[in-house]
Amino acid sequence: MTKVLRMPSSPGKVALGEPPSGYDVERIRADFPILDVKAHGQTLVYLDNAATSQKPRTVIDAISRYYECDNANIHRGVHYLSELATAEFESARKTVQSFLNAARPEEIVFVRGATEAINLVAQTYGRSQVSTGDEVLITAMEHHSNIVPWQLLCDEKHARLEVAPVNEKGELLLSEFERLLSSRTKLVAIAHVSNALGTINPLAAVVEMAHRRKIPVLVDGAQAVPRMPVDVQNLGCDFYAFSGHKTYGPTGIGVLYGKSALLEAMPPYQGGGDMISSVTFEKTTYNRLPYKFEAGTPDIAGAVGLKAALDYLGDLGMENISSHESDLLEYATEAISTIPGVRLIGTAKEKTGVVSFVMEGIHPHDIGTVLDQEGIAVRTGHHCAQPLMDRFGVDATVRASFGVYNTKSEVEALIRGIQRVKEVFA
Ligand SMILES: Cc1ncc(COP(=O)(O)O)c(C=O)c1O
Repeated sequence: MTKVLRMPSSPGKVALGEPPSGYDVERIRADFPILDVKAHGQTLVYLDNAATSQKPRTVIDAISRYYECDNANIHRGVHYLSELATAEFESARKTVQSFLNAARPEEIVFVRGATEAINLVAQTYGRSQVSTGDEVLITAMEHHSNIVPWQLLCDEKHARLEVAPVNEKGELLLSEFERLLSSRTKLVAIAHVSNALGTINPLAAVVEMAHRRKIPVLVDGAQAVPRMPVDVQNLGCDFYAFSGHKTYGPTGIGVLYGKSALLEAMPPYQGGGDMISSVTFEKTTYNRLPYKFEAGTPDIAGAVGLKAALDYLGDLGMENISSHESDLLEYATEAISTIPGVRLIGTAKEKTGVVSFVMEGIHPHDIGTVLDQEGIAVRTGHHCAQPLMDRFGVDATVRASFGVYNTKSEVEALIRGIQRVKEVFA
């Protein structure tokens, strides 16, 4: 077969704010080959999207096309393929910029995922700005990825990690949050959407309260970017992190958005190729943004796949996705609330695509195992949010999380599965 070398396509069109009409879930399902897999001989009902989402054909094709036609190392070559690969990689950056509505492409740093993005900020901004007696403020609903990097920093710097509490519904207590902001607070780090509860945090208020005191805000957007329109300029946050693999893209690629003035002032993260401007044994000078933070060969194919994923989501329209997941959430919440012995964990007013629950007398892992036999994939455990589980007095929950391709009949399958669990453990 003759391979056709292509020039990279232009950054994807982002269709934000479209009306939620014409959302054809069956057509969308046909874009995801994995949905045809049978699990234990049953039709697969994939409700583990908060852990990772499935990949549409366009993403799979973009990655293989990259390796078939464009593969070379980037930035350092003058040859045809290297220029092509570089253009693909930088085009992906522009797509991310447009998707998040960042002011400049150099504010988009490619990393491995949300975890690495947060660690990058902790190890660079954090280590240069936080000192003895300072504080970092997080919330009680953070993923371990937005707890442990700050604990490591605070341990090293003899600083304090402060935690804003949540109420019984899993909503941030804003007045408590504000009370914990002080002249010692050097950074606020907060989830946009809680992975364990689905709570959407009131970021406008959080950013306003922090900025009034000149405190920068890092937002962990791992669960928001796949589910809702995100506009970092409108949010006004200083850093924003997300993972490609939860956003219908590949594993191994993610993004740190940072305001350029902050990124400029931060020391580099890792040392190596590409992040330098010049090196002698006496002194190294660093590359301009964003390359200062991208040491070594990046996940080029991952960036290409992420671009394809964001183009795909842009075509569906983030408002449409958000409204589809809200419908599923409402349907599932209503149905599950009526089942005796089932307790929903996380009932915030502002919530998206995640239903967490426990069942009286039945361990979540047992529930997950019975559901799995029915072909239903859910996540059971602490969801990397152990302090939040402690807050609700549980070790673990069952979490069903929705994606662009889920349907009401899959929610009904989940409800039948829960009834089956009750029969098995009666
Ligand atoms: C809210 C949140 N933050 C951070 C992460 C970490 O993402 P990753 O493992 O892709 O780095 C996750 C993953 O579940 C998450 O849900």
